[in-house]
Amino acid sequence: MHDFFPGLAGVPAARSKISFVDGQKGILEYRGICIEELAEHSTFPETTYLLLYNRLPSQKELDAFNSDLSHHRRIKYRITDLIKCLPEYGHPMDALQATVAALGMFYPQPNVQDAEANYWAAVRLIAKLPTIVATYARLRHGNEQIQPRDDLTHAENFFYMLFGTVPDPSLARILDVSLILHAEHTMNASTFSGLVTASTLSDAYSVISSAIGTLKGSLHGGANEQAIKMLEEIESVDRVQSYIEQKLAAKKRIMGFGHRIYKVKDTRAMILQRHAKQVCEHTGQSHLFEIAQEVERVMDQLISHKGVSANLDLYSGLVYRAMGIAPDCFTPVFAIARVAGWLAHCFEQFQDNRLFRPDQIYEGERARPYLPMSVRHSQAQL
Ligand SMILES: CC(C)(COP(=O)(O)OP(=O)(O)OC[C@H]1O[C@@H](n2cnc3c(N)ncnc32)[C@H](O)[C@@H]1OP(=O)(O)O)[C@@H](O)C(=O)NCCC(=O)NCCS
Repeated sequence: MHDFFPGLAGVPAARSKISFVDGQKGILEYRGICIEELAEHSTFPETTYLLLYNRLPSQKELDAFNSDLSHHRRIKYRITDLIKCLPEYGHPMDALQATVAALGMFYPQPNVQDAEANYWAAVRLIAKLPTIVATYARLRHGNEQIQPRDDLTHAENFFYMLFGTVPDPSLARILDVSLILHAEHTMNASTFSGLVTASTLSDAYSVISSAIGTLKGSLHGGANEQAIKMLEEIESVDRVQSYIEQKLAAKKRIMGFGHRIYKVKDTRAMILQRHAKQVCEHTGQSHLFEIAQEVERVMDQLISHKGVSANLDLYSGLVYRAMGIAPDCFTPVFAIARVAGWLAHCFEQFQDNRLFRPDQIYEGERARPYLPMSVRHSQAQL
């Protein structure tokens, strides 16, 4: 008799040296460095380097990595044409997934375990994901694509490709911090999905495209989009209590709360909460932030005994919305960051690969006869 753990809760799927979470104490570390320090001092490209290579880069290494990233931001015109062919009413995560899968066709990789080829696959994916997201976001609304600029930082350039203006330094820094906070998070659903694809010795583009499909769901990356919709639906602080009580009574999930691992408030949520306050005040949009604060207070009162607290998605949506990013682009922004962690896990898997092929507990019938068509109908009615 097999033990069965729905959702594989608590079942290790890999040995990993990439990140560590203690959900009881609210600790998150990337390669042993706590997330608070990275959010305070690092940049997204530097954090990505740390995740991929297990060490902080020297200035020379960081300059070379930044230069490689900034020189691979452009996408081929045929990729832009492909994006133009996608329906404007489609979800940007689907556009991203389809485009990343197509991207791999332009850069075939005969040996998926070749380190040099994987470096360039990583550079292309990290550099081009923001361009793909911004291109679809603009084209679907009838706007011209904006070509990337290699003199801007990763975060500045993404903002620029979306809006055509360079963000002020404090806004760019908040976007960069948000990318750092989203870059990696142990064995989450999308990372696992990418790992399964990697274990078949598929290439990095297919790995990232699988992971994007998994990130899209509302129980995972899609929660940030749903959380902001909820805050907008609530409309005012005085409606929060009754709204939450009604949802909980109807056994509905409150988006932006709860986590499989964290049983205390997510450290990343605390960091982003401070930035959300700052950016909402800066852009004169404190209203939704106040609603979020009240939702958190009411949830603490009603459901914290179940170990359900605010997660990152409650505040990331507020930050992106205040920056003018459309809600259905929130999860793609998550993907732009998480690609770093997905790639780190993919390459770790390649180093010591074994095909994922789990077991199941079969609960269906066995040894049934193949019935001729003439008798099936009457059998079905029995
Ligand atoms: C993330 C999530 C799927 C984790 O779920 P999980 O580890 O499987 O936890 P469970 O579904 O077993 O939940 C445990 C209990 O907390 C409750 N709970 C968990 N998250 C909740 C939420 N967001 N709102 C209301 N209740 C919640 C469950 O109803 C359950 O209550 P019960 O024991 O009375 O049945 C879940 O918290 C969720 O759906 N959150 C909302 C989506 C979200 O924000 N996702 C982003 C995660 S970073």
